[in-house]
Amino acid sequence: MRVLSGIQPSGRLHLGNYFGAIRPQLAMQHEHDCFYFIATYHALTSLKDRSLLEEFTREVAMGYLALGLDPERTVFYRQTDLPEVTELTWILSCVTPMGLLQRCHSYKDKIAQGITPSHGLFAYPVLQAADILIMRSDLVPVGQDQKQHIEVAQDIQAKFNQAFGSEALVRPEPFIREEVAVIPGTDGRKMSKSYDNTIELFCPEKTARKKIMSLKTDSTPVEAPKDPGRCNLMALLRLFAEPSETAEWEQRYRQGGVGYGEVKKRLFELYVEVLGPARKRYEQLKQNPEEVDRILADGAVRARETAAETMRQVRRDCGLRRADG
Ligand code: ADP
Ligand code: TRP
Repeated sequence: MRVLSGIQPSGRLHLGNYFGAIRPQLAMQHEHDCFYFIATYHALTSLKDRSLLEEFTREVAMGYLALGLDPERTVFYRQTDLPEVTELTWILSCVTPMGLLQRCHSYKDKIAQGITPSHGLFAYPVLQAADILIMRSDLVPVGQDQKQHIEVAQDIQAKFNQAFGSEALVRPEPFIREEVAVIPGTDGRKMSKSYDNTIELFCPEKTARKKIMSLKTDSTPVEAPKDPGRCNLMALLRLFAEPSETAEWEQRYRQGGVGYGEVKKRLFELYVEVLGPARKRYEQLKQNPEEVDRILADGAVRARETAAETMRQVRRDCGLRRADG
């Protein structure tokens, strides 16, 4: 199966990104033909700062590689290295009904937050459809929040093939792991950079410790029995710990006698233990920027082969001729 997913370089990677998106994506590398990319053009809809965009793009690249992306197997690239994607976006725009985009939650949410909508923000799902369709992806692993965007890509694929009597584009399916629920942030809401409640993956350990110790809990006294299913600390611990350790904590919660401070300390230890090897690799990559550049350049070449092939067929089916065929 051809698997594709993208992540916007619009901030620093955090635990929500890792457990909610990156870890499940990387787990698919060995069974599938995976294409993972950094959605630089998408980030431009919210980020208008040259040095931050460059910095976050590099950090996301180093993060994926440090966390286990295998560049030999998986095609890893920057969206910017694939100009064919923006060409396809235009073509798809011409078969995309306005109403389809007007119904998108993420667009409506942004407007509700008071963000002045740009055409780019409105057309965001068309660019995302182009990312997916240009690679003829079968499966798109994403978080629950992206499900509607994949459905938009399905609608656009059907519209294109129908309008031009074409078979150039393949219907993608979302792949959503229901068991990876929403990862809570330090204030108990969904961990998200927009809420300023994240625990970053590659920040100094001291900063992570402070954040973990500040995780919001209720005021149940130590002796009282607690419901492990309703505790943010347990939600995070479950992601890091072995199932046997999780089961022990759950039992102790139900019995009573667990203090939240104790759980937070263990959580920090697990954070250091589990992410330690990735941190080490991240530091090595930071010292070797050429290695990252080389991997992205190689990914760009491999991604463009597939994109060019799809575009030849798309142009032909639309009746768009080019001097270079
Ligand atoms: P943020 O909310 O910090 O802006 P993004 O929207 O850029 O993060 O998320 C990138 C990917 O990480 C998406 O696929 C999203 O589903 C996943 N993700 C982000 N935060 C969480 C979370 N708290 N729980 C689960 N998945 C998350
Ligand atoms: N919109 C996605 C997000 O914010 C990122 C993204 C861009 C993407 N293009 C994609 C995800 C294509 C999957 C497939 O998380």
